[in-house]
Amino acid sequence: MSHKIIIAGIGPGSVDYISPAALNAIQSAKILIGGQRALNYFATNDQISFTITANISAVIEFIREKILLDDVVVMVSGDPGYYSMLDTLRKNFPADSLKVLPSISSIQLAFARLALSWNNATLLSFHGRRPTDNQLKFSEGKIIGMLTDSKYNSKTIAEILIANGWSGDSKFFICSRLSYDDEKIISTTLNEALTIEEIKHCILIVKS
Ligand SMILES: C[S@@+](CC[C@H](N)C(=O)[O-])C[C@H]1O[C@@H](n2cnc3c(N)ncnc32)[C@H](O)[C@@H]1O
Repeated sequence: MSHKIIIAGIGPGSVDYISPAALNAIQSAKILIGGQRALNYFATNDQISFTITANISAVIEFIREKILLDDVVVMVSGDPGYYSMLDTLRKNFPADSLKVLPSISSIQLAFARLALSWNNATLLSFHGRRPTDNQLKFSEGKIIGMLTDSKYNSKTIAEILIANGWSGDSKFFICSRLSYDDEKIISTTLNEALTIEEIKHCILIVKS
């Protein structure tokens, strides 16, 4: 297989956070795969495109067929190295057939918005999964950055953190719609987060 599967990060939303390398690969692709929203934004009539849905085997099958013709560019949100289709593609194709083009991750942008380094942060995902209590448990100086979904949101995660030894007064940042015009960063505490409307599909950062 001489053609490559190019996994291009598209950043958290705004094109400002796509790397030039990823944008160039997307714009010059002959075969382009992505979620419907990404395709609506980037795909042109000259490109062969395929929409990613819950049917991942269909995506793999499409790639197997089209890779014989040309490179295939797969768009993923944020950075491909952080909870994307990359792991699935690595399980299905040899590593040397994959080329990863990084962009800015939503978690990276959340830390940037708070002017906080992530040197010593614990990065966890609640997106379709739940980290272990051991990963979540409080310790002095700990910072956790978290991906979320609709079940695990700003309220349910605040409860889980308190149950894992975090004080209700711990600083809690709710970062939603990062890079979009309606981006919102709420700086609150775990106790207060239990009393306000839950926010889903955001980045949460808790800090002791
Ligand atoms: C499947 S993960 C993809 C993560 C992606 N690879 C990245 O690096 O940002 C989807 C989760 O990322 C977070 N996310 C993605 N875009 C976001 C944005 N613009 N603002 C806040 N959170 C975002 C949410 O927690 C969402 O549920």
